[in-house]
Amino acid sequence: MSKKLVTVSVNGKKEEKAVEPRTLLIHFLREELNLTGAHIGCETSHCGACTVDIDGQSVKSCTHLAVQCDGSEVLTVEGLANKGVLHAVQEGFYKEHGLQCGFCTPGMLMRAYRFLQENPNPSEDEIRHGMAGNLCRCTGYQNIVKAIQYAAKKLQEPVAA
Ligand code: FES
Ligand code: FES
Repeated sequence: MSKKLVTVSVNGKKEEKAVEPRTLLIHFLREELNLTGAHIGCETSHCGACTVDIDGQSVKSCTHLAVQCDGSEVLTVEGLANKGVLHAVQEGFYKEHGLQCGFCTPGMLMRAYRFLQENPNPSEDEIRHGMAGNLCRCTGYQNIVKAIQYAAKKLQEPVAA
């Protein structure tokens, strides 16, 4: 199959690659760019382990083609920390023990990152609904809710001048 040239900004870095049109974004990220944080947990678009942020939206990258991202801005878990400082959602999952095996975590973090921009001050119920596209086998979700509450609070703290 003939390849198509795709130019996409990933974590702020311009990437140009020739890919087959059928290449799923998750494989593009993991296999072409070596960004192996996003995971594959299903073949039916349920688990959300592959969630990344594309042009300001949470997207399951297993159900998106790499060629659809031509000209897009993609953010993955590897791009969340800034100069070694964890993003509030990463800190929240760490402090509140929101992960065990860590397989769902990159997808959870990317969804939480976007969710807290959609809804900066969510109720517990809104968090559970907002994160409903992400499955976790380990935590029972309880500490993930706490982690997102932690991050919401931290993001609302005034930034030191
Ligand atoms: S791998 Fe399960 S939704 Fe993408
Ligand atoms: S921490 Fe293991 S699947 Fe969520």
